[in-house]
Amino acid sequence: MKKIMVTGALGQIGSELVEKLRSVYGEDNILATDIRKSEQTSGPFELLDVTDGQRMHALAKDFGADTMMHLAALLSATAEKNPLLAWNLNMGGLMNALEVSRELDLQFFTPSSIGAFGPSTPKENTPQDTLQRPTTMYGVNKVAGELLCDYYFNRFGVDTRGVRFPGLISYVTPPGGGTTDYAVEIYYEAIKQGSYISYIQEGTYMDMMYMPDALQAIIDLMEADAQKLVHRNAFNITAMSFGPAEIAAEIQKHLPHFNMKYQVDPVRQAIADSWPNSINIEAAQQEWGFTAQYDLAKMTVDMLEKLSKQLQPKAIS
Ligand code: SER
Repeated sequence: MKKIMVTGALGQIGSELVEKLRSVYGEDNILATDIRKSEQTSGPFELLDVTDGQRMHALAKDFGADTMMHLAALLSATAEKNPLLAWNLNMGGLMNALEVSRELDLQFFTPSSIGAFGPSTPKENTPQDTLQRPTTMYGVNKVAGELLCDYYFNRFGVDTRGVRFPGLISYVTPPGGGTTDYAVEIYYEAIKQGSYISYIQEGTYMDMMYMPDALQAIIDLMEADAQKLVHRNAFNITAMSFGPAEIAAEIQKHLPHFNMKYQVDPVRQAIADSWPNSINIEAAQQEWGFTAQYDLAKMTVDMLEKLSKQLQPKAIS
């Protein structure tokens, strides 16, 4: 029986992953932890600052965890604003989580990102194994993280596994401080305002994925037969690649009056320009059967439907 401890449980991925894990493995078998308090009332929850390794160890031990899912991290644009904080949190938190996993013999998952690639990486059909010389602090953290996870597997036998997530889109918990956030904001603004100002330039393609596919991918990878894993940290996965104009056009199919303007943010544009346009996912498909259910059209239908129920639509003339 799985007993899973999740860090960063109130974040963009964590808030939905905890619910999903509880539905699969049972409510009491998932320990949610975060640096701020949860408003939800059901299921085990503990406060945890991931830079506090001793508390992390004590919580995992007391819970009887056999798996650690380490999600607590700063995203790319926030990390650029405060690189030292990003290093301390992203790397310090990861080292603590790996150490606890080594000490308590836990299976381990942490997400990497398309941010682990850089301007010298092939931009189209980016291979699983390729040049990784990112130019952002977030990317430096992610590459170092991938290497550390491989190190803990090779050196100590910790069962570390990871994926390179593309931009993740969801109607539940908004992302904070990412470069791909525009692809979430655009749906909210389409419904609330009927318009959106994109901080990413037209023609800038990035990989993306709808949250239900991301959650399933984590579970599938963690359940995968270890014998079949040639790679571990971390697998390229994606479901779609588009730029602002393509997502706007898809929204216009449902909201014909929706319009978009551009006001480019140089910091996030530079980050986006340094990332691939579309990545190759054959290793994930072959080694653990990765698939995605949602493309841009199907995701857009679901996002607009779910958000329309959540938000008060402004009358579109
Ligand atoms: N969505 C993340 C970001 O934009 C990429 O991993 O920072």
